[in-house]
Amino acid sequence: MNVIPRPLKLEESTGKINFSSSTEMTGEFDSVRAFAVNMLCDVKGEGRNTVCFKKDDAFEEEEYSIEKRSGDVIVKAKTEKGAFYAVMTMKQLSSGRGYFENVKIHDKPKYAYRGFMLDSARHFWSVDKIKQMIDVMANLKMNVFHWHLTDDQGWRIEIKKYPLLTEKGSIRKDTPLSLYNYWNNKEEHDGKEYGRGLFYTQDEAREIVAYAKERQIDVMPEIDMPGHMVAAISCYPHLSCKAEETQVSNRWGVMDNILCCGNDEVYEFAKDIIDEIVDIFPYKYFHIGGDEVPKKRWKECPKCQAKMKELGLKSENALQSHFNNVMLKHLNSKGKSMIGWNEILDAQEILEPEVIAQWWTNYHPGAAEKAKRWMKSGGKTILSLVNYVYMDHAFAIRPLSKTYGYSYRTMGLENDDNVAGMEIPQWTEYIRDEEKFDMNTYPRLITFAEVCWSDDSNKSYEDFERRFENMRGYFKKSYGFELPHQKVYRGKTTPWYSINKNKYWVKDPYFEVKLNRELMKNGK
Ligand code: ACM
Ligand code: ZN
Repeated sequence: MNVIPRPLKLEESTGKINFSSSTEMTGEFDSVRAFAVNMLCDVKGEGRNTVCFKKDDAFEEEEYSIEKRSGDVIVKAKTEKGAFYAVMTMKQLSSGRGYFENVKIHDKPKYAYRGFMLDSARHFWSVDKIKQMIDVMANLKMNVFHWHLTDDQGWRIEIKKYPLLTEKGSIRKDTPLSLYNYWNNKEEHDGKEYGRGLFYTQDEAREIVAYAKERQIDVMPEIDMPGHMVAAISCYPHLSCKAEETQVSNRWGVMDNILCCGNDEVYEFAKDIIDEIVDIFPYKYFHIGGDEVPKKRWKECPKCQAKMKELGLKSENALQSHFNNVMLKHLNSKGKSMIGWNEILDAQEILEPEVIAQWWTNYHPGAAEKAKRWMKSGGKTILSLVNYVYMDHAFAIRPLSKTYGYSYRTMGLENDDNVAGMEIPQWTEYIRDEEKFDMNTYPRLITFAEVCWSDDSNKSYEDFERRFENMRGYFKKSYGFELPHQKVYRGKTTPWYSINKNKYWVKDPYFEVKLNRELMKNGK
């Protein structure tokens, strides 16, 4: 049976179940029923039958079952979420055919948090494109859309109190084409201004939140701070330690120029941003970023040093923990809690224990030990390790099978007691168009959905690949994107290996994908 993610229990038997526009939806969960009717309206099928939605309080939050009774279908769930996932499973099973083979399914997720992150800062993605991503996520039973809205190279969410953020902070002079020669400050640029007018209004953000909610997805904004803030600093230079004029960054990488956490105005600025957008995003968690915060400027800054002395903070990392705790307290006052990248654990002894860490790095010295220490003391963590799940990296470097094999064990953990869930990020420095976006995002999203939903026992990449292959037509027809040939994902036979003789190709996924496109054209 072609279902991704693989359900917990699935029993096949002979015969067919009708599932089409002539199917009547009855019972509980009104909004899900209405959604299901809408989804099926153009699927022609024979015979009238019924899908009856029943509420079963013995089920868990996202659990559901699907069973045939005579010609009808009984769906059981405790909540709208479970009922919705039953509909998504039936959509895949019927694949627009007006029926599916007899089946009995009982299903629930491995992890409660199943996230996808989109970087809208480096390159902007339209509201319609984001709706496509949400549709695909929903079909794969993913439930958190983590929206990276600000970075050094662009500010992309309207903030009425600070209009410069989108008037000026959205625009960079030009865009680097590769990292080649980066360390000599001579990387190639495209020479074209980027980002003017490319931001989301608060109404557009509301529209996306509402669209996602109908599909059982929460939208979590990320305002990355105190690092990755050059776009904001270019508008309001007094927020940085040196308070000097600067431009929205037109280089990728990690910038020394960060918010000055010795300056009380910075705390007010950050709280103002939170105040303007928290109500747009009803999800309980707000992502504070917190990654890649070089402490060079803070070490040299009289204000930062004075703040550390005043508060008895023993290190610059402790100053970041202090900043995080202030933000958490503010978020708590709005009924929210906080998530941050794993660098927030650098001074974890003074970080409030309710914060959730998102563990993405193992190449920074001590990062893994710090994450493990956090989890050992009960700290909740989301797993997103760069060299298993990052989507912007080439398939030749990271075949889909590697992502499929990702688990808490890969992180060197003995159990997943404090694993809140998993997330797959899509960073878009080198993803400038939708064609490349689709190619790099959807195959790995489909793979990852199974990693964070399906039970680890009976995990088989071969079985997954067979379903994935069988569902190419389904995804194209339902969502409009094409999946490249398996050879690309296996990574062994892409020309990358034969052509690559230097770092250029390794560092530049954009050109690597051009090669993949040639492969697709040649039908290999
Ligand atoms: C990250 O990839 N900088 C979280
Ligand atoms: Zn400072």
